[in-house]
Amino acid sequence: MTDRAVTLLGIETSCDETAAAVVRLHEDGSGEILANIVRAQLDLHAAYGGVVPEIAARAHVDLLDPSIKQAMEEAGLGYDNLDGIAATAGPGLIGGLIVGLTTAKAIALGAGKPFLAVNHLEAHALSAGLTDDLAPPYLLLLVSGGHTQLLIVKDVGVYERLGTTLDDALGEAFDKAAKLLGLGYPGGPEVERMARLGRATIKLPRPMAGRAEAHFSFAGLKTALRYEAMAREPLSDQDVADLCASFEDAVADVVQDRVGRAMGQFEQRLPSGAPKALVAAGGVAANTRLRVALDEIASLRGYRLVVPPAALCTDNAAMIAWAGAQRLARGLIDDMGTPARARWPLDPDAPPALGAGAKA
Ligand code: KG4
Ligand code: ZN
Repeated sequence: MTDRAVTLLGIETSCDETAAAVVRLHEDGSGEILANIVRAQLDLHAAYGGVVPEIAARAHVDLLDPSIKQAMEEAGLGYDNLDGIAATAGPGLIGGLIVGLTTAKAIALGAGKPFLAVNHLEAHALSAGLTDDLAPPYLLLLVSGGHTQLLIVKDVGVYERLGTTLDDALGEAFDKAAKLLGLGYPGGPEVERMARLGRATIKLPRPMAGRAEAHFSFAGLKTALRYEAMAREPLSDQDVADLCASFEDAVADVVQDRVGRAMGQFEQRLPSGAPKALVAAGGVAANTRLRVALDEIASLRGYRLVVPPAALCTDNAAMIAWAGAQRLARGLIDDMGTPARARWPLDPDAPPALGAGAKA
């Protein structure tokens, strides 16, 4: 709830999508997307099999101004009509973040409007409020190319991290699996496409399954996949399809097990009788096999499963504007000195995950 509707411009440049959006938070707490522009840089990075930070930063410089112009035109608004300008301040690739932040600050200064520095993970975490009117508390599974986390969203700005990955993010694991099987980039959709043609008959490990804490690990799974692939060389299309199906099955099992573990922890903190909801966000949430596994565990445990539509699950600026609007409605305005942050955990007090190299 807010005393009046607020309209924000959001800017997202933390990775390889250049995005600008205009979103309105209505008095009744509902959201409305007035424009949502995303310019992917896939072609620029595909040849390298991953995002090249320097290329991404330069592309954001070229693509951001036209994206903002298009978003404002589609919304039919001028900067004077805005109540604030929000941009991703982290976590992400520092060059791109600086491009987005500097642009947002310049527009805010020029138009005399509040500036809001948004945590990209918080934006993913709150997007179910924009798409499905879902209010906290709920359990969040965030699975993208850069992040794999299980979090309790307690309120805007209040998060408890239950699990993270000890090594690769899940999207990264899909991308590496695709690369070692000779498939294209980004790997997730390619692996999914091939898996449909295959049988999940190859035995692969389920790392971390059964562990008490809701953490993840995917490095061992990737290595096991590599050995199984090497043992079958030269790979036929059917071999690749079977390897993809088996990999997806292992991932789905692990995620289901880890989500189940997090549900137990979430329920301990939830008042008895409160509705239980699980939100899945991030690019990997688009995976159908994973969706089936989440559906199963959600219905088994009495949860409502919310998966925002793909365009709002993957990186976008509507979620940045929405998170900014939530912060503005609470008077959480940022000053112009706010820096870009490569790392910015949502729950800085979370105990470190087991093992070295755990990501925040
Ligand atoms: O959220 P996102 O668009 O960007 C960030 O990483 O922030 O997620 C991209 C990741 C990539 O690793 C991509 O391979 C993965 O999501 N992905 C998928 C699918 N679609 C995208 N992984 C598995 N199955 C999919 N259908
Ligand atoms: Zn993201």
